[in-house]
Amino acid sequence: MSSEKNGKPEVLSEVRELSVTYHTRLGPVSAVDRVSFDIYKGEILGLVGESGCGKSTLGKGLMRMIAPPGEVSHGQHIFDGEDIMQYNERQMRDFRGRRVSMIFQDPMTSLNPVQRVDEHIIEAIKVHEPGTKKANALERAKQLIERLGIQDRRLSDYPHQLSGGMRQRVMIGLGLVLNADLIIADEATTSLDVIVEAKLVDQLKQIRDEFGVSILMITHNIALVAQVADRLAVMYAGRMVELGDIKEVFANPKHPYTQGLLSCIPTTKIDKTEELYKMPGEPPNLTHPPKGCRFHPRCPHAMPICSQKRPTLKEEGDGHFVHCWLYQDPELEDEGLNNEV
Ligand SMILES: Nc1ncnc2c1ncn2[C@@H]1O[C@H](COP(=O)(O)OP(=O)(O)O)[C@@H](O)[C@H]1O
Ligand SMILES: [Mg+2]
Repeated sequence: MSSEKNGKPEVLSEVRELSVTYHTRLGPVSAVDRVSFDIYKGEILGLVGESGCGKSTLGKGLMRMIAPPGEVSHGQHIFDGEDIMQYNERQMRDFRGRRVSMIFQDPMTSLNPVQRVDEHIIEAIKVHEPGTKKANALERAKQLIERLGIQDRRLSDYPHQLSGGMRQRVMIGLGLVLNADLIIADEATTSLDVIVEAKLVDQLKQIRDEFGVSILMITHNIALVAQVADRLAVMYAGRMVELGDIKEVFANPKHPYTQGLLSCIPTTKIDKTEELYKMPGEPPNLTHPPKGCRFHPRCPHAMPICSQKRPTLKEEGDGHFVHCWLYQDPELEDEGLNNEV
């Protein structure tokens, strides 16, 4: 549950008009295009969309982890009141380790195979809190690991001795031991088998409840995210097309893309063989994205305006945002920045 102040959710992170471009030999790839949304304190925000729509790029962009030939080409990320796009490298290192941590599909790529679990945790503490005594850091590591449901004898294990689910919990723990405010989990459960995946997803909820941390859960698996998220964000071709309370978006999807996506959720609760709905047509090439609304070539409701101008992300009902001309009057829209293609 996100924390509230005067009945309103408390905002941790404000993402404003964020764009990420990869400069490739074939031209610039507009992988994230002026995306704006908030992350509330203590919420689980699900981020879904087809492969290649820019989910990972957005996650990395929030942490300024885009490697060349990519760059954050526009926008702000105001985190706890400060725009991290203005931070210098020293501030960024602190931000990445201490405030926000990102975990990926394969934890082995982030864990050092010749370092024991306790050494990983102690090192994380010492890097960000240099004066900490070793005994004190070890005690914190013990307490942390128990809170994550792992026996403390596992502290002397090497990463390969742990199960996949445990490894991901250790990764999450490396952020939590420094009291991270936000964990970005990018397909973090995808490589696990179905049972372990379901358990880890459940544990994400417990971790959020216990530590009060916000979680941005990036996944292509909409059925999975439905089990834990408070809100759902849907991306299509580099843009956020819908955002709202998860129950509301499921009951009343507004964007034609979301409607297509939801019409095809597998009926069995969790079934890894089922992929997201395969919509007619192909996702666009982001080197030459369609003009106007990027979904218009595949949209069953496309109107002439849709191929000419970009809609704005409009609030349609309480906290339910949609990026679609069906919900806005072109006559009333100004010709400002937001309506550029
Ligand atoms: N390093 C890169 N160089 C060039 N293009 C990239 C790079 N990384 C991602 N892209 C492109 O950016 C778009 C979004 O990719 P990505 O963020 O990985 O999507 P998702 O995580 O939703 O599958 C895709 O078109 C992809 O081809
Ligand atoms: Mg990805």
